Formats: sequence, C-alpha cells, structure tokens
Amino acid sequence: MFGKLRVLRLVVLVFVAIMASRGYGVRGAQADDKLEVFSYWTSGGEAAALNALFDSYKKVNAKTEIINAVVAGGAGTNAQAVLQTRLQGKNPPDTWQSHPSAELQGLYIDPGYLEPVTDLYKSEGWDKVLPKSLIGNLLTSKDGQIYTVLTGVHRYNSLWYNKKLLDSNGITIGKTLSMTDFIADSDKLKVAGVDALCLGDKDIWTSGAVFEMTLLGAIGPDKFLDLYSGKLAFDDPSVKKAMDTYGKLLGYDNSDHAALSWDQAVKKLIEGKCAFNVMGDWAYGEFVNAKQKDNVDFGWVNFPGTEGAFDIVADGFVLPKGALHRDNAVTWLKVIGSKDAQEAFNPLKGSIPVRSDVDRTKFGPYHNWSLDSFAKDTLVPSGIQGLAAPSSFTQALYDGSTQFSVEKDSDAFAKALVAAAKDAGITK
Ligand code: GAL
Repeated sequence: MFGKLRVLRLVVLVFVAIMASRGYGVRGAQADDKLEVFSYWTSGGEAAALNALFDSYKKVNAKTEIINAVVAGGAGTNAQAVLQTRLQGKNPPDTWQSHPSAELQGLYIDPGYLEPVTDLYKSEGWDKVLPKSLIGNLLTSKDGQIYTVLTGVHRYNSLWYNKKLLDSNGITIGKTLSMTDFIADSDKLKVAGVDALCLGDKDIWTSGAVFEMTLLGAIGPDKFLDLYSGKLAFDDPSVKKAMDTYGKLLGYDNSDHAALSWDQAVKKLIEGKCAFNVMGDWAYGEFVNAKQKDNVDFGWVNFPGTEGAFDIVADGFVLPKGALHRDNAVTWLKVIGSKDAQEAFNPLKGSIPVRSDVDRTKFGPYHNWSLDSFAKDTLVPSGIQGLAAPSSFTQALYDGSTQFSVEKDSDAFAKALVAAAKDAGITK
C-alpha cells in the first residue's frame, strides 16, 4: 500500500516538475529571463527588421536573453512544419509569427494553442489607432476575440523592376502598366537577351504568387473576393483565362528559377541580371538592405490590372497557452505594437505600420505610396499566403500552380481548385 503511494507521489512530483519547466501552472512566474521568438525571417532584409524589434524590446527589458528561433524558408512553409511538431509536443516558443485571419484561425486558434490578447488592444490604446476595418475584418476571430499583434501590413501586388536595366533597354514604366505593355516590354527584353521575370521558386509559393497577381489583375478585387466567399467558381472562364496569362508570363523567367529562393531572385534583379519581380513588399527590405534607392536603382508599379486593389499579407505575433516566459512574451507584444517599434521595423521590412499615428516623414516614397493605397484601395486578403482560406486550399494553390507551370493545363488547374474550394468549405 505505502509502496504504491510512494510511487504515485513520485509520478505526481515528476509531472509537476515537467509542467512547471514548461510554464504550465506557473503562468507569470518565469523560469528565467528569456524570450524565445520563433519566425522565418532569415533573409538580409527580414533579419535586419527583426533585429530592430529586438532592439525595441531591449529598451524595455535590457536583461532578457532573446532566443532568435528562426527556420529558413520564405512564407514560412518550413517553419510551419517545425512549429506544428513543437505545438503537438506541448513545447511552444514564447511567441511566433503568423499571418492573421484564416491561417491563424485554422492552425492555431481552433486547435486551442493561443490565449486571446484582446485586452492588450484596450490597455495599450491600439483600438483607437488601428483602422476599424482591419480590426473587424482581419483581426477578430470567430469568437469575437483578437489573438495577434501585427508588426505591419505587406502589400503583395507590387511589381518591382531594375530601373537602370530598363532604362538601358529603352523601357520606361509610367504610373500604371497594362498587361499588354508588360508583355510587350518582356518581349523586347527577350530579344535583347534579358530575362524579363526574376523568379526564385525553390519555395513553390512564389510562382503561385505570379498566378494570384495575374488573377487579381484580370478579374479585379471584387470578383477576387467573390472567389473566396464562394460566389464565383474557380473554374469560371475569367479564372482560366488568367491561368493562361500566368502561363505566358512564366515563359519570361530566368532558367535557374527552380534553384533560387525569393530573396535570391530579388538579388538577381538588383544585380541587373533580370528585370521585373512579382513579390510582396518584403522585397523592399532586400532593396534597403542592399542600399538601393527608391526610384533611382529600383522602381515599382501596380502589378498589371491591380490598380485599386491592395493584396494584404499581414504579419503578427501571438501569445501561446503555456508560454515558458509568458511575462516577457506579453512585453514583446506590447513593444511590437508600439509606435516606436512600428516606426523602426517597417521601413526596414517593407510593410506599412498598422497604427494611424505614425510619423509619415519617417517613411520613404515607397511606404507613402503603399500607405495611400491601403487607405483608399479595396483590401483583399492573399490566398497564396494563407489569409483568405484554410491551409488545405493554400496547399492546392501551391500544387496547382506548380503543376500548371509544367503542364499548362488550365482545365486541370481549375478543376483542382474547385475541388479544394469545396473541401475547404469555401463553396458548398
Ligand atoms: C511572408 C511574410 C513576410 C515575408 C515573406 C517572405 O509570408 O508575411 O513577412 O517575410 O513571407 O519570407
């Protein structure tokens, strides 16, 4: 009898020790002064911007040891897999980066991994300086709570170009660029032996993004939203037509595209080895990091046809249940939502701050252009980056656009998306 009790007591003690070491049951009482920040921000521009956030944190908590837990791979495709393993093993980082909306809901809120941070929006006064549209449409979860603090909002539908390379080929880009002109310019470059499209699709989402922008440009923001609310079918003739245009654009890419990451493709553009790049404005972070000047070395224009739309890819950090260093995680969230941190981080990252009270003079021409677009254009959450639909649909977009790049079969691509939209609950 006593033997059994002793064993039981031992089991309980070991269990309590393990749980305590993971922060369970001792919330607020931190084991040590550390903060593990999990992200996939490893490119030159991303790392510089992340460091700016660490510096902001250090101003408040200088003694904390920040563990920069990064998993390389743009858009987080690799990081997500590592994170899922940790979450299932009840070993969460103290905070991690994620896109809001569908991705956050499906991967982290629904399985119960997160604590809401709604109270912070009141205590920090964010509810007064963040656009209501953002809070209502993008940040508020199904249960009416908010589970993320945004560092900024990226704009996806910008087309970047090497200004000097285009100048030397007699190509000038105006305020807008039509698809017809884009294709004509690309043909001209081809004749001159220059690859028009800088692509790095080692990570498959980048060619998928070329498809998303082509689609958005072809059908416009309202119909794009209709696709994701199930009002327009993914095999609509207008969608298939966009697929064919996407196929045509791929014909202008660099032959080593499959070996390059997204930031290596931007580097190729900077080096003048190819002309245009379809990339969210995290590409801007690479230009800044390489000391390139807005409108001198590089330029940008709306991806053809996407004027009037702002394809959103926002980034935020979360507060997990069972964070080992919960107090530090909360401080981190307060810091990244602050005016100072938003003003320090976003010029380096390429995204715009989410707060309306930032000093716009601290931002250059690109940011001011993007801020204006955010204020007046139709906001559409990105599908390829997981904001618009559950991850199963994002995966179908990855797979479909990759397969299409080889087979150029728009019927098959459209059929796959229709099936995936049904599976993901976008359509009935
Ligand atoms: C996106 C993310 C951006 C940027 C990009 C490339 O998913 O929102 O912040 O880092 O991937 O890694």
